[in-house]
Amino acid sequence: MTRKLFVTTALPYANAAFHIGHMMEYIQADTWVRFQRMRGHEVQFVCADDAHGAPIMIAADKAGLSPQDFVAQIAAGRARYLDGFHIGFDNWHSTDAPENHELARRIYLALRENRLIETRTIEQFFDPEKGMFLPDRFIKGECPKCGSPDQYGDNCEVCGAVYAPTDLKNPYSALSGATPVLKSSEHFFFRLSDPRCVEFLEAWTQDGRLQPEVANKVREWFTRDDAGRVALNDWDISRDAPYFGIEIPGAPGKYFYVWLDAPVGYLASLKNRLGQLGLDMDAYLAQPEVEQIHFIGKDIVTFHTLFWPAMLKFSGRKTPDRIYVHGHLTVSGAKMSKSRGTGISPLRYLELGLNAEWLRYYIAAKLNARVEDLDFNPDDFAARVNADLVGKYINIASRAAGFIGKRFGGRLSADVGVEGRIVLDALRAHAETIATLYEEREFGKALREVMLLADKVNEYVDAHKPWEIAKQAGQDAALHDVCSTCIEAFRLLTLYLKPVLPALAAQVEGFLRIAPLQWADAQRAMGAHTIGTYQHLMQRVDPKLLDALFEPPADAAPPPPALPGGEALAAEIGIADFAKVDLRIAKIVAAERVEGSVKLLRLTLDAGEGRDPEGRPRLRNVFSGIAGAFKPEDLVGRHTVLVANLAPRKMKFGVSEGMVLAASHADEKAAPGLYLLEPGAGAVPGLRVR
Ligand code: MSP
Ligand code: ZN
Repeated sequence: MTRKLFVTTALPYANAAFHIGHMMEYIQADTWVRFQRMRGHEVQFVCADDAHGAPIMIAADKAGLSPQDFVAQIAAGRARYLDGFHIGFDNWHSTDAPENHELARRIYLALRENRLIETRTIEQFFDPEKGMFLPDRFIKGECPKCGSPDQYGDNCEVCGAVYAPTDLKNPYSALSGATPVLKSSEHFFFRLSDPRCVEFLEAWTQDGRLQPEVANKVREWFTRDDAGRVALNDWDISRDAPYFGIEIPGAPGKYFYVWLDAPVGYLASLKNRLGQLGLDMDAYLAQPEVEQIHFIGKDIVTFHTLFWPAMLKFSGRKTPDRIYVHGHLTVSGAKMSKSRGTGISPLRYLELGLNAEWLRYYIAAKLNARVEDLDFNPDDFAARVNADLVGKYINIASRAAGFIGKRFGGRLSADVGVEGRIVLDALRAHAETIATLYEEREFGKALREVMLLADKVNEYVDAHKPWEIAKQAGQDAALHDVCSTCIEAFRLLTLYLKPVLPALAAQVEGFLRIAPLQWADAQRAMGAHTIGTYQHLMQRVDPKLLDALFEPPADAAPPPPALPGGEALAAEIGIADFAKVDLRIAKIVAAERVEGSVKLLRLTLDAGEGRDPEGRPRLRNVFSGIAGAFKPEDLVGRHTVLVANLAPRKMKFGVSEGMVLAASHADEKAAPGLYLLEPGAGAVPGLRVR
């Protein structure tokens, strides 16, 4: 039976270009969709930009653009990534498109009709300078628990505490720096705590449609307290103007919170796509066989397993059949941050000439059906691609195709003989096992199966050595059979790899002169068919290119130069930081050893600070750890540089009133040498160094 699949990935925020984590989600979903199409199923695979929300509005403002123009600019850049990595969405839309405005309003009105919307007045931080309510992310202050400065309004990155923005000490607006004030405003809530919602969601999330680990986690929301109540809270779905979003019907100045209209964007994109085909979305979704499937990352599970199904259910719509949750991509073991991304940009990957299908293969080979993080490691990447794709798979064609072309005019033998048949039958026998693994999103396991089959074929080649048979007289038929077996095996392996390597498969289909491979073609044979000339299909990964991938792009700040001696640069400071340090020329008027210390000298410095009430020059007492490098008598009379505003420090031998500057290696033992700083001739005590 032909399945009808409505498949989406999460809608990326339209405030930045794609990062490599997005590509991983798209590669997972695209591979699955391509597999389904090869099985003959019908798929609508759609996505859109998630255009709304305060962060995008603020980013647009900073860029001096309207939110619409800002989002359009981001949207215009999408195709390069999607085409580049062979991501075959049927439609790319926007949550700011008219379909979405209309659908979001209709869904909201249906929920209201169902008495699931309620208004309540709440107090929130308001930026009096910007004239707007502040989202948690834009309120900063000191952590109420550990006191760390500059923490966000919802949690502390230093101690991990979670709190409300109103708990922060000395809060300030990250937008203007102003102290926020509490202001009350009417908000709209989706009454998720309504028994109808609780009952529905509890059943919906536990009926087997979610991955077991996701269902288990979601179940925690339904644990009952002593009073029999569950922890499900009502959901605040409104935001006050100014906001880039969809205005709430009947509530001027109030907008849907971005997460209300974002998933509606799945439907808006589908509606737009079906419209292009002359089809009606409601009629399409009314077909009982349509399966609605969302691929998402682990960070947005709550939205997709609670809010979104409840919105759909109680507005009288079809709910998702599957939510496929994946873990996150890390790069060389480091977590990617939403704001900073990672050092590797998908676009740079393409621009450097790295093959998109290397990445598709590498990611697919590491994916499974569970919510596990997956690491991109450059050495592992090169090793895996070179060993599997080039060493095992491509190798089969390159070892046999030349003989078929040169010796047999491109024609394959009609029947490959007993041994060839054994090899090919074994390959064909795995078609359903591999299909099941693709269906279950066990891509890693599927590809391991395929590579084991490739190993079998290579063993067959090594046992029959076509390059040797080719030299023997009267062995044409044997050579023909061995090489034809290889080419047929290569076709089968290509078929199994096609969901992951669509562009390469298309090239192979061209070379073999066959129609686009479908899964059912595994049970057929090419027979006495004439193929085209073989051209090399895939290069090995050059590790140098991978190095270049990790170098920061030219417009990024250059890395600190490697200094002789190897000491890394301290963190960057601004000129204002430097200006805080008051450096003065000082004359060493006296120097002596300090009894009881081998390191310290007591210096008496004239830093040009005038005279005391008794008319004596005001002098400073400084203890300096330079006794190992200087004799006191050699220092007297010399000028140097003093850190004049360093807080006085009480030491065992007295108070030190500053510090003199000297250069040294980081590792004094390995590279001894201490060099006192001295000004050019003519400098007098008291001059500021700036
Ligand atoms: N706009 C929301 C989704 C709305 S869906 C109605 C959003 N956008 S996002 O751009 O931050 O993330 C889009 C998708 O990329 C999410 O599924 C997210 O989990 C996924 N990823 C973000 N970082 C990722 C990795 N490092 N690795 C894999 N996927 C990653 O959330
Ligand atoms: Zn803290």
